[in-house]
Amino acid sequence: MTAIVGSGNIGSALARLFARAGIEVAIANTRGPDTIPALGPGVRAVELAEALDSDVILMAIPFGAVEQFGRTRPDWTGKTVVDTTNAHYAPGSAEILRGRLSTHYVAGQLPGADVVKAFNQLPAGTLAAELDPEVGRRVIFIATDAPAAGDRIAELVGALGLAPVQLGRIDEGGRLIQAPDALVLRNLVERPLY
Ligand SMILES: NC(=O)c1ccc[n+]([C@@H]2O[C@H](COP(=O)([O-])OP(=O)(O)OC[C@H]3O[C@@H](n4cnc5c(N)ncnc54)[C@H](OP(=O)(O)O)[C@@H]3O)[C@@H](O)[C@H]2O)c1
Repeated sequence: MTAIVGSGNIGSALARLFARAGIEVAIANTRGPDTIPALGPGVRAVELAEALDSDVILMAIPFGAVEQFGRTRPDWTGKTVVDTTNAHYAPGSAEILRGRLSTHYVAGQLPGADVVKAFNQLPAGTLAAELDPEVGRRVIFIATDAPAAGDRIAELVGALGLAPVQLGRIDEGGRLIQAPDALVLRNLVERPLY
């Protein structure tokens, strides 16, 4: 099962993409399922503990909450966690990162997890906006140090009607999707080859 943790701008945008694609997903926040509005067919609001039991977790929470999120499990082995955070815009992030790439920091808070950077590059409204298939598929960049998990998320991105582009390791192409680097806030669309 796939779960979204965080029901704010990005969590809701992701939930809408799942609903549109007809893929079931759970969604949770800190305040409980009753606080989450209906986000579409197949989107089930659950307790945080249930969401954390999922194999694939789309982590759509503020960068400053990652440390607390990480402490919810002693061991994240077997989990794929998608890091949607943008540390650059978070207060105090420079002191937290001390020169580290933000997804390396996130991975350090989630010992054992396969961490995949994705869905952080576009504003939530753009991410969720429908695109006429005639125009193309919206590009979602993916970076990870765990290639099998990257393939899994690329497959999910494709199933959501988006175009996955894998950029390699976090310290390779992953740098380009760490805000404010070159591929952040670029609303790119993939069109078929002619
Ligand atoms: N907004 C954008 O357009 C955008 C674009 C790209 C990337 N991002 C990144 O996406 C992340 C989320 O941004 P957002 O704008 O969606 O934030 P947001 O609207 O403030 O929503 C944050 C969500 O995270 C939940 N949360 C906070 N701490 C948590 C914890 N420890 N465990 C579980 N859930 C927790 C909150 O739950 P409660 O509601 O219960 O407090 C809330 O539902 C950020 O890191 C941001 O940098 C945002």
